Amino acid sequence: MKHIGVLTSGGDSPGMNACVRAVVRTATLNGMEVTGFYRGYEGLMEDDGVALTRYDVRNIIHRGGTFLQTARSAEFRTPEGRAKAAAHLRQRGIDGLVVIGGDGSFTGAKILSEEHGIAVMGCPGTIDNDLFGTDYTIGYQTAVDTAVEAVDKIRDTAASHNRLFFVEVMGRDAGFIALRTGIAAGAEGVLIPETPTDLNRLVAYLQTDFQKKRRSGIIIVAEGDDGGGAYDVAQKVQAQFPDWETKVTVLGHTQRGGKPNAFDRILASRMGHAAVLALHSGRSREMVGVQGNQIAYVPLEQAIKHHASISPYLLELVDALS
Ligand code: F6P
Repeated sequence: MKHIGVLTSGGDSPGMNACVRAVVRTATLNGMEVTGFYRGYEGLMEDDGVALTRYDVRNIIHRGGTFLQTARSAEFRTPEGRAKAAAHLRQRGIDGLVVIGGDGSFTGAKILSEEHGIAVMGCPGTIDNDLFGTDYTIGYQTAVDTAVEAVDKIRDTAASHNRLFFVEVMGRDAGFIALRTGIAAGAEGVLIPETPTDLNRLVAYLQTDFQKKRRSGIIIVAEGDDGGGAYDVAQKVQAQFPDWETKVTVLGHTQRGGKPNAFDRILASRMGHAAVLALHSGRSREMVGVQGNQIAYVPLEQAIKHHASISPYLLELVDALS
């Protein structure tokens, strides 16, 4: 393999720049050229790419977002869109592609490879941590840090005013950010989509323990929770406690931005490095994961098909300590 492409796709996540840097530096070290494509698959279909040398990726390891920019592409889901992308890759003499993104991006990569014979490797870049086959995805830990910092601040004002806050965190249909944030911020409750939400249980808890002994608190609500978003849940709980003052904060995209923490920079560096070495040695259609701190290669098909599972131990922990 002489020439590879790299792109970031789907929702951005802190650490994507560090991953691109690792891809470029590992590839050039191994005698390969690298082209970076802008705005994910959109750039591939528009042939909007730039040659990247090891010097072009200086001073980006600490930056949030992705300098290559990203997009969610509807056109790439069509055979015509993928054919256009494949033609551009062939014209440029690119025979391998590193895709940094989540499950939607990996689905696209897998189909592109099957239809057009292009070797692809995936690096899991998403704050949601929902990909099967890796303990962590790039950006997840930073997003949790951001959420915890925000909740700590909310707790100060909640305690000062005797208010019950419902804080909504991201994660799409997964509760990983909510669970870790809840544990680290000492939340009084965590509602996640992986376990059925029983609002009666929450109300009963607030009625007894909470109402008697505490005068303020934080309930973390995952955006995909089956009890509804934070506004819905707050409204239902408020109806049971008309005297209580409830407030809602939706952390939203603050969780996606900001500098990657050291963990994510190292994770991204390891994954980008491993993805290029894998392409170089003839591997394809796999995601680079970490399992028990070791690099693991997971077929894209599995990474996409299954959902990462929530640790029952952490669920018990949050219950025991809230
Ligand atoms: O997948 C990352 C994520 O931030 C999810 O947590 C969230 O549901 C979604 O993307 C938001 O997407 P968008 O930025 O397109 O609104």
